[in-house]
Amino acid sequence: MQLPDPKTDGDVSLEMTIHQRRTVRSFHGTSLTLTQLSQLLWAAQGITEPEGFKRAAPSAGALYPMDIYGAVGGDCIERLNPGVYLYKSATHSFSLIQEGDVRRDIAMASLGQMWMSYAPITFVITAEYSRIMGKYGQRGVRYAMIEAGHIGQNIFLQSLALGLEAGIVGAFEDQKIIQVMGIKSTHEPLLLMPVGYEK
Ligand SMILES: Cc1cc2nc3c(=O)[nH]c(=O)nc-3n(C[C@H](O)[C@H](O)[C@H](O)COP(=O)(O)O)c2cc1C
Repeated sequence: MQLPDPKTDGDVSLEMTIHQRRTVRSFHGTSLTLTQLSQLLWAAQGITEPEGFKRAAPSAGALYPMDIYGAVGGDCIERLNPGVYLYKSATHSFSLIQEGDVRRDIAMASLGQMWMSYAPITFVITAEYSRIMGKYGQRGVRYAMIEAGHIGQNIFLQSLALGLEAGIVGAFEDQKIIQVMGIKSTHEPLLLMPVGYEK
C-alpha cells in the first residue's frame, strides 16, 4: 500500500505534544485514516532528506538496524485489510506480510495486557543487530535500543499532533511476538506501541 505524502508542518506545537504526552491504556475502535497512518510511520522511520536516505530518528552510523511493523485490525485503518504490515522507508509504503487480526494474540503475548487489543493499530519496533554489530560489535546492541527510544518518542509526539494517543509496552515474550506477527526471527521486538483515539 503506497502511503500518501507526509506533511512536514502542522498546527500543534511541539511543546504542546511534549506537555500532553501520556501512556494511554484505553482506546476505542474509531478507525484511522491512511493519512494519519502515513504521518505516524513517517515520524517513526520516514526519510527526511529530499534525495537522501537519512530518517526521522537518529541512528548510530546511519546504519538503520530498525524496522517498524504494524498489526492492524478489521475496519481499523482506511483501505487496509486486517493483517501484519511492514513499513518500507525507501518507498514510504506499508506491505502486508501476514493476513489476519493478531492484536488479541499480541496482547496475550504481552502478559495479558488486553487493553492493547482495542487500539486500531499496534506498532512493533524491531532491531536486526547484524546491521549494526558489523561496525560497532556488542555496543551496537546498546545503540539499537537507544534508537528504539527515539522512534518511540517520535510516535508518541506525532500521535498527539494528530489528535491520537499512544501506549508503550516493553513487557512481552519476544518469541511469541515474533511467532504471532510472522516476522523474521532475526528481528528482535523491542517496543510495542498501540495507537488510536482515547476512550
Ligand atoms: C521501556 C518501557 C516499557 C514500558 N512497558 C510498559 C508495559 O509493558 N505496560 C504498560 O502499561 N506501560 C509500560 N510502559 C509505560 C510506563 O509505565 C509509563 O511510561 C510510566 O508510567 C510513565 O507514564 P507516562 O508515560 O504516562 O508519562 C513502559 C514504558 C517504557 C519506557
